[in-house]
Formats: sequence, structure tokens, C-alpha cells
Amino acid sequence: MADLDNASKDQDTKDYHLDLPQRTEGFFLKGCGNLDWGMKNRLASVFNPQSGKTVMLAFDHGYFQGPTTGLERVDVSILPLEPHCDTLMVTRGILRSLMPAGTQKSVALRVSGGPSILKELSNEQIAVDIEEAVRCNASALAVQVFVGGEFETQSVINMTKLVDQGQRYNIPVMAVTAVGKELARTPRYFRLATRMCAELGANFIKTYYTEEGFETITACCPVPIVIAGGKKLPEPEALKMCELALKQGAAGVDMGRNIFQSPNPVAMIRAVRSIVHDGETAEKALQMYKDLGGRVS
Ligand code: R5P
Repeated sequence: MADLDNASKDQDTKDYHLDLPQRTEGFFLKGCGNLDWGMKNRLASVFNPQSGKTVMLAFDHGYFQGPTTGLERVDVSILPLEPHCDTLMVTRGILRSLMPAGTQKSVALRVSGGPSILKELSNEQIAVDIEEAVRCNASALAVQVFVGGEFETQSVINMTKLVDQGQRYNIPVMAVTAVGKELARTPRYFRLATRMCAELGANFIKTYYTEEGFETITACCPVPIVIAGGKKLPEPEALKMCELALKQGAAGVDMGRNIFQSPNPVAMIRAVRSIVHDGETAEKALQMYKDLGGRVS
């Protein structure tokens, strides 16, 4: 099959035009210029229109992991971080039970789910009605997409159904590219996964940083990319990852464990914020973290 053969060839033969930024007329976010007013307005509550970037705080892990480390008591660990993020990435259960309704932060609502860590994670379904997302005043719908996973097609169709529903109500969809244990976290994989999500309608995409070639992932994805933090790293490494991702085209972070599992989560999110919105270096952000009482773990 000629096309498949071509897809498996070394991606180094491709030209991502890294020196030529994608142009978007009429809006501050890449690839979003042709969207309707309500969609743009919601995106502008997730991404700061001044910096064009976002600090999303991810604490939805319990939807498949239960009370993971740092999220045993969301009221204790997450509420103090709320003032320092732009967007809360959260399940409707935690939103309704613990989040103050007076929050001025936008909500990226986790809307896929089903299997626990005890089962095949890619076997997710849509777990929230679009009307329920409207009731939760969601500014974005977050859905896991398992490209290459056992239930790849099902998860992709979950996303496309949400895109159709989101279009109806002008709620953007954030596709989260999930990586199973069996899949290599390579630029080639993430180029495939992020581009598939964008082509099939996702308005922005959450993916992982790769030490090599991350700029090729952002270059060939026509909509904004935010990075997940992934497993807990020492603070200097996590901050460096943020700096490099932003320099290589990320529009922000959607970070969980590297913030709420830090010895000083408030200092850490403030340090991350300084990189994302103020363009600080990782070194300066680390100094800020320490000045705020943070200990390197
Ligand atoms: C994972 O599926 C969850 O949706 C998390 O929101 C995501 O992994 C980001 O959190 P972390 O920065 O801890 O990787």
C-alpha cells in the first residue's frame, strides 16, 4: 500500500518549515481565526489574549486512577493553587463537590472516561452530555485519544462526536493524546497523533514534550498545543521542560503532578507561570521557586 509505505519512511525527509510561523488572521491563537465568536471567547478564557499562552492546572487524574498521590484531598491540595492558574482541568464530580462556584477561572471539563487503571485504558467512552458541560460552564471539553491503542477508533470517534457537539454550542475540544505503555513517545508518534486530532476537528491539543524534535510536532499541527507535565521530575528539569516547550512552539502547559506533587506546589505553579506568561528562563523560574520557599526534590 503506497501511502502506508510513505507514512513509515524516515520523517527527516520532510520539511516542516520551522523558520516560517503559521499565519492566523483575526485571532491571537494559531489556526483559530475562522471560528465563531463564542468559540473564540471561550478559547480566550483558556488562553490569555495578552501572552497567547495558558497555565492549565490538571487534576482530573482521579477519573481513572482514584486518589493518586497529591490528590488524596483535592480541597486541601488544589484549592490553594486555583488563584495561580488560568484554567482548571477537572471532572464534573470534583467541580461540583469541591470547586467554589465563584471561581473566575475557566474550566476544561474532562468528558471521557470508563475504564480504570485495572483495565484497558483506551476503552473509553464519552462520559458527559454536552448539555451537562454547558451547565458546568465549561470553556473546553477534554477527551483522551489513544492513537495506536487497542480502542483507537473508538477514542477517535469519541473525539469527533464531541467536536460535533462542541461546534453546536461553541465549546472547544481539547484532544489529549494518550500514550500506552507499549507506544514509544517519539516525535514521529506525536506528529501523527496531534495531526490526526487536529485534522479531525480538535480545537487544541494536549500532548507530551519530546526532548528531540518537539518543534516539528508544533510546526505541523495547525492548532495550539499544550504540554502535559507527565510523571514527577525534579523541579529544575520540569521547569526546563516548560521553557524548551514554549520556545519550541507550545502555547502553554496543562500540568498536574509536577505541580501538585512538588514540595511547594504554590511556588512551583508560580514559577511555571513566570515561564509561560513572562518568558522567564528556567533558571530564573527556579530561583523564584526557591525564593518562595520551594525545595528541590
Ligand atoms: C491524564 O490522563 C490526565 O488527564 C492528566 O490531566 C494529564 O496526564 C496531565 O497531568 P500530568 O501533568 O500529571 O501528566
